[in-house]
Amino acid sequence: VARSLAAKGWRLALLDLKPGSAHELTKKFPGTTFHQTDVSSFDSLSSSFKGVWADHGRVDFVFANAGIVPTASFYAPLATVNAETDRDDVVPSPTDAILNVQVNLTGVILTTYLGLWYLRKTRLAAAGSHLVSPYRGGSIVATSSGAGLYPVVALPEYAAAKHGIVGFIRSIAHRVFDQHQGVRVAVVCPGSISTPLTRGYIAKGFPEEFLTDIEKVTDAVEALVEGNVSLLNGRLSTRGPLLPADLIGASVEVSGKDLLVHIPPVPENKSMKMALPLVSP
Ligand SMILES: NC(=O)c1ccc[n+]([C@@H]2O[C@H](COP(=O)([O-])OP(=O)(O)OC[C@H]3O[C@@H](n4cnc5c(N)ncnc54)[C@H](O)[C@@H]3O)[C@@H](O)[C@H]2O)c1
Repeated sequence: VARSLAAKGWRLALLDLKPGSAHELTKKFPGTTFHQTDVSSFDSLSSSFKGVWADHGRVDFVFANAGIVPTASFYAPLATVNAETDRDDVVPSPTDAILNVQVNLTGVILTTYLGLWYLRKTRLAAAGSHLVSPYRGGSIVATSSGAGLYPVVALPEYAAAKHGIVGFIRSIAHRVFDQHQGVRVAVVCPGSISTPLTRGYIAKGFPEEFLTDIEKVTDAVEALVEGNVSLLNGRLSTRGPLLPADLIGASVEVSGKDLLVHIPPVPENKSMKMALPLVSP
């Protein structure tokens, strides 16, 4: 996504725990900046956004993409429970599961929160000037996963965090669009892509024909950034042809050769219909 946007003239600010491929991108695309960041920490993210503002003076799009997979099985400590350890009453902390939710879900909530702040700052700074974003209020796309739409027995904490992203984006999308002058937030939910994150299990024999091309995810993200429904139409949708408004809070599943736009469900039950808006602050 970063490479593709930079090739189209976007100036990049890369936020990551580790520089990774940022060095290559900063060399290749002048003006690109790197900001060492832990997305699970508000202080770290906040100071990076401050740095981005100091370096670039505007924010038009935020991609909340950082993520990790669990390294330990959620079930392993449960499987080792026996009479002896029960008597000791020492329950091992599910450290890995907690970290997973902190990076994958808290990270997205904090990134979105700060993203909205700086998109607004950009609009205020640009009012009446030539800096007005061609993408109206700007946009935020978060990376969830197929695990954000379907249960995954092997990775329950990852699935919980990724479902959380879908629920969070769906919940804020219309309020944010209305109150933040057209800011669009949406989610991409990729299938299996060959990246450092998945190399382990792909090496164990995941069939190549079921891998998803990273370019397909890039295309989906760019359609969401541009709010260009025609780039997604003609693909599969959960409810016939898409309207521009359908991109607000949409979850775009990108898997294998397919792209499926999931529109948030609307409650059919009358009591539920009444209950949901009542809890909004
Ligand atoms: N690869 C897949 O098959 C696949 C499928 C569905 C969803 N995803 C999601 O796509 C996103 C990108 O993953 P990827 O496959 O490119 O893997 P990746 O490991 O190449 O990228 C993840 C990046 O997140 C960074 N990161 C991890 N913890 C961080 C933290 N606390 N703060 C800041 N940065 C942090 C890593 O340094 C890394 O650069 C993740 O959210 C992942 O869950 C990947």
